[in-house]
Amino acid sequence: MSFSYQIKSYNEYKEAYKKSVEDPEGFWADVAQNFYWRRKWDTVLKWNFKEPRVEWFAGGKLNITENCLDRHLEKLGDKPAIIWESNDPEEKPRVITYTRLHKRVCQFAQVLRNNGVKKGDRVCIYMGMIPELAYAVLACARIGAIHSVIFGGFSAQSIADRLEDAQAEFIITCDGAHRGAKEIPLKSVIDDALIGNKVVKRVIVYTRTRTPVSMLKGRDVWWEDEMRIVSEGLDVPQGINFGEVEIMDAEDPLFILYTSGSTGKPKGVVHTSGGYMVWTNYTFINVFQYQPGQIHFCTADIGWITGHSYILYGPLSAGATSLMFEGIPTWPDAGRFWDIIDKYKVNILYTAPTAIRSLMGFGLDPLKGKDLSSLKVLGTVGEPINEEAWHWYDEHIGKKKCPIVDTWWQTETGGTLISNLAGITPAKPSWATLPMPGVQPILVDESGKEVTEKDDQGMLKGNLCIKAPWPSILRTTYGDHERCRTNYFATYPDLYFTGDGALKNEEGFYRITGRVDDVLNVSGHRIGTAEVENAINMHAGVVESAVVGYPHDIKGQGIYAYVIFSGRHVDPELTKKDILATVTRIIGAIAKPDKIQFVSGLPKTRSGKIMRRILRKIAEGEISNLGDISTLLDPGVVDEIKNGKI
Ligand code: WTA
Repeated sequence: MSFSYQIKSYNEYKEAYKKSVEDPEGFWADVAQNFYWRRKWDTVLKWNFKEPRVEWFAGGKLNITENCLDRHLEKLGDKPAIIWESNDPEEKPRVITYTRLHKRVCQFAQVLRNNGVKKGDRVCIYMGMIPELAYAVLACARIGAIHSVIFGGFSAQSIADRLEDAQAEFIITCDGAHRGAKEIPLKSVIDDALIGNKVVKRVIVYTRTRTPVSMLKGRDVWWEDEMRIVSEGLDVPQGINFGEVEIMDAEDPLFILYTSGSTGKPKGVVHTSGGYMVWTNYTFINVFQYQPGQIHFCTADIGWITGHSYILYGPLSAGATSLMFEGIPTWPDAGRFWDIIDKYKVNILYTAPTAIRSLMGFGLDPLKGKDLSSLKVLGTVGEPINEEAWHWYDEHIGKKKCPIVDTWWQTETGGTLISNLAGITPAKPSWATLPMPGVQPILVDESGKEVTEKDDQGMLKGNLCIKAPWPSILRTTYGDHERCRTNYFATYPDLYFTGDGALKNEEGFYRITGRVDDVLNVSGHRIGTAEVENAINMHAGVVESAVVGYPHDIKGQGIYAYVIFSGRHVDPELTKKDILATVTRIIGAIAKPDKIQFVSGLPKTRSGKIMRRILRKIAEGEISNLGDISTLLDPGVVDEIKNGKI
């Protein structure tokens, strides 16, 4: 495959960008015609941000898996679609060609049909990073079921909330998952999540760890048994044609992915088929400057949007080889990524700044003897990258020969919105730089007015919004469209508000400075402060809590919790452990506070609002400059908190 829409020079980028803004419909029709549509669209774009309503390629019919699989079979059938590296370096890798992947997806799609899954049904997927996870996701897409993948680190309670919100009737899981030295008992977590659930009809369980599990008669079935029925041609309902796809409208939902916001409850971000396919493919090819035959290693988990877009849909729709890794970067040692790159001659490495910082901490020894010369392009995602980490990545991993793309985007955006294009447009350490064609960023002040005043360094600074839709903008939040409107489209009229702050320099480059709402970014994972507070408050002895972020060397942001505790305080260290256990049970280990400070009160205004600004400053260690505290109900509490800072 060669890609007519791959941008080859800075000038071509400028031309593409100009055209995409002046004639978005013409621009995206040109790109979209390179895909396989069962029926061409009637209109390229209809939209308003008031409701909001966005439709791309309306009237078009397609199935995204035909674009990710079937259309490659003739030329790329024998090429690896997925190379899988086990958590255990001794275990044999699995190489899944496009032909094999197609077959497995069709078989599992049939399994889903046999189990009663229909178009539009919600299927929750809670698995480790194994090829069967890819089969499950693509099989859902094949039959038009809406997949909702949940990261393996979330707790039973989190899963229960998501199942309830999505009204999911089906679950696909594993007995367990391997992650480093740990084994996560996935099925048993699912069993806990299902206590009291009356909606789930079927749980399909794949055997990975051989952890003992209990199977509920009538509800739970084994993946292997179900696959055997299909592959041996037993019990397949008459009239079903193996490999048949559900033909979807471009605007039919493809998946739901839950993400944290500034309220206590995660939102089910909904993406649809046509626009999401075009965008993940377009950005994959252009940002990484993917060349046919290259091996792409995205280290994210498929439980997050990065895995959806840049392990599965983007690379597969481009006919690339996607490397999927079950384990973690530091197991069995901190050289694991470098071993993998050497072993498979990886060309593109896409990872998170937090991973880079953590590996940097192990020094250069883990790199000794590892041949990284196959690398052509490096990428980062998920959080701002500090200059030190950028230079380390450049020098020691890319050997100063690989462009680094700093890709800024969100679960809601489906794919990258702001990034340099590898080797094509300029890179600047810690700057995401330029918008992708079709993306029109704008910086606004608190009142929504475009920022035009430059600071003394010639920079504009404001809240980052986007003026017009790109093909993979979220369409709604599942089951609650009003929530989508108020969260993203109501803060500033007629703009999509990202929740991030940004700088813009004189060259027009953007630098993302971080969230301006109550969302933390811990190790590249989004966590709402309200969610963590809710979880802490579930502890019987806790009266109230307030959670803020503070700079953390490796995680980017750490979680600092101020807690008013009324229970019996026999040993504060034990109480802290109890609180951590509560958070782990309610959300998952990723949301555990790094620091807990017990306080007797929180700084509140007379109307009862917690002044987080003050708490944030104290957590950051900026104790001398707290600003105006005269509006506080009890200013005395501030001194107490300052003195008790951890
Ligand atoms: C942050 C991950 C700076 C940002 C794809 C955004 C970044 C949030 C970058 C979305 C980057 C992501 N530079 N910040 N290159 N990429 N972010 O939904 O705050 O898990 O709003 O999507 O991560 O996180 P999410």
